[in-house]
Amino acid sequence: MIKKVGILFGMEDTYPWAFIDKVNELGKGEVIAEAVQIDKVQQGIDYGYSVIFDRISQEVPFYRAYLKNASLMGTAVINNPFWWSADEKFFNNCLSMEMGIPVPKTVLLPSNTRPDNTSETSFRNLKGPLDWEYMFDYIGFPAYMKPHDGGGWKSVYRVENSEQLFEAHKETEQLVMMLQEEIVFDDYFRVYCLGQKYVHIMPYDPRKPFHERYVSNIKATGESRKKLLKTVHDYTLKLNQALGYDFNTVEFAVRDGVPYAIDFCNPAPDADIHSVGQENFDWIVEHSAKYAIEKAKAHKPGQNNTSWGGFLRNSIASTTRKVGKVNLKTAAQAKKTAVKSPINKKKVAKAATVKKAPAKTKAATKSKK
Ligand SMILES: Nc1ncnc2c1ncn2[C@@H]1O[C@H](COP(=O)(O)OP(=O)(O)O)[C@@H](O)[C@H]1O
Ligand SMILES: [Mg+2]
Repeated sequence: MIKKVGILFGMEDTYPWAFIDKVNELGKGEVIAEAVQIDKVQQGIDYGYSVIFDRISQEVPFYRAYLKNASLMGTAVINNPFWWSADEKFFNNCLSMEMGIPVPKTVLLPSNTRPDNTSETSFRNLKGPLDWEYMFDYIGFPAYMKPHDGGGWKSVYRVENSEQLFEAHKETEQLVMMLQEEIVFDDYFRVYCLGQKYVHIMPYDPRKPFHERYVSNIKATGESRKKLLKTVHDYTLKLNQALGYDFNTVEFAVRDGVPYAIDFCNPAPDADIHSVGQENFDWIVEHSAKYAIEKAKAHKPGQNNTSWGGFLRNSIASTTRKVGKVNLKTAAQAKKTAVKSPINKKKVAKAATVKKAPAKTKAATKSKK
């Protein structure tokens, strides 16, 4: 059976098309790729993709909901839409510490402005003023302040003292922020990681103009460079295996030979040829296509084929889900069995008793556990 790979994307215009072409080339007719096509989203319907690469659901909540259903139907969604919804940077840092991967000293700050529909009394658990003195002493200045759930360099501030911090904090309104120690770095890397196994380390200089950032040299030399690259490689794998991301970039700032993980929650990472450059673009196109084909071939219908990170897997008891026995359908089956004239109540009632309502099915499956 031919397996279908889909890609869901937004404004980006180089990577998705190259990805589709590469999967079609390497898939040899057994695995084919296309831009995901959606003209309706009905609950409990399998729209037939073995694999979907998601590049945009962070900006389109409708897609995120579509993908959660697709994942339940057995599509291997890259990246896991459930985990992506749950994840944020502050938690990433905490998990990182637990795994022994260095991160800058960081504290969480409540939003400067109250969230909509809250009042003074919604914050009775927050002490005022906060223990700023402790926090400033712990983090030091200059420091970085950035959203605990951000991306794309939005609302990232470098502040030199408490006055600047409070000024900047006001601008961030309802965003929950993190205050973070500045890592003054010798080297900086952005690292692609695919399928929690393919790693590509890119020297990157965030201080350079946009189009030159990926054309930097590594400062470390000889043995220390070798050791550094091995550590960066290993940390990248460890982080992605724990978080369960199949397509991610991790950023490291290197100070005194120690790589600190700065930003490792980029589940739709930049892959545009105009920013990452030809060589990095070729690597990501080639490897993501290869990985998509592996996932498509390994795809088992009716099972959950989406990756779950070690953190989650180790946190929950193993349970076996009874999948799709009764009422989960493919789009083609749904079309065939669709009730054509809802006005005919007899027919509707019959269809309902024979086929059973999805809600009932789910409840029945659950109660068997
Ligand atoms: N703790 C830090 N020390 C030094 N530079 C930092 C630090 N945090 C962020 N930066 C700089 O700010 C940039 C954006 O921050 P980042 O955490 O990557 O946010 P985003 O998710 O928006 O990309 C980084 O690429 C880096 O250049
Ligand atoms: Mg970043």
